[in-house]
Amino acid sequence: MIRKCLFPAAGYGTRFLPATKSMPKEMLPIVNKPLIQYGVEEALSAGLTQIGFVTGRGKRALEDHFDTNYELEHQIAGSSKETLLAGIRALIEQCSFSYTRQTEMKGLGHAILTGEPLVGDESFAVVLADDFCVHEPDSVLEQMVALHETHGCSIVAVEEVPWEKTASYGIVSGEAVGDDLVRVTTMVEKPEPSVAASNLAVIGRYLLTPDIFEILKSIPPGRNGEIQITDALNEQAKAGQVLAYRFKGRRFDCGSIEGFVAATNYIYQQHYDVGENYPRP
Ligand code: G1P
Repeated sequence: MIRKCLFPAAGYGTRFLPATKSMPKEMLPIVNKPLIQYGVEEALSAGLTQIGFVTGRGKRALEDHFDTNYELEHQIAGSSKETLLAGIRALIEQCSFSYTRQTEMKGLGHAILTGEPLVGDESFAVVLADDFCVHEPDSVLEQMVALHETHGCSIVAVEEVPWEKTASYGIVSGEAVGDDLVRVTTMVEKPEPSVAASNLAVIGRYLLTPDIFEILKSIPPGRNGEIQITDALNEQAKAGQVLAYRFKGRRFDCGSIEGFVAATNYIYQQHYDVGENYPRP
């Protein structure tokens, strides 16, 4: 049973400067809720209550967000504003939060390896909060956890992207083993469109078996001179131990301005009455 979810959150978010100069990019709000909170809500929806963050310098706002703020809560106690904190309070009650710091930026694989002490020897999820995913009633992680219970191996969420975008993603190829499932044979980090084996791109949801850590320790730096999770998964794929899942739902690339604005509009229309200041009950 998967219980743990790791959130790599050490990146600088340079595409959102100056907003991210002194604020973690994970705290950027989609309407009134920070991106990272949506990610933790998704983890909890899948039954993952042990949350691990791999942070870095300048990320203390993350720890404060997942903690009580007595002064503020005292101030608004009994007022209508209290309901705005109900969601985050529920997360704090139901989840545990652990933190470790990545002191050097050496890639996503390195960030995940930095989280090893928070995970230990069990299968775990990785969520990249920038990839904001929506699906009702079962979230993308819920769908993936259900698959992991049947198959037991590593699983990556994938979607088709325009061919000209392959150099922005980990790209998988393999054999279809069901409507939505591919048994992965190769994974390549950010291939140019001219050499990409497919346009099936990994998005920021992974379920990983714990042997990934030993692989991450042994592989050489890959694309951009960084330790890539894609390269480690490629080793598991050679042994037939990776499935790619075309998830049900919609994903917004909130690492880009366009995706961020699209997600904001989507949430606003879904959850707010236009002209009202507060979410619908
Ligand atoms: C990372 C991974 C890449 C994956 C992407 C999903 O890239 O390295 O394989 O497709 O996340 O968002 P990044 O977007 O951090 O450059």
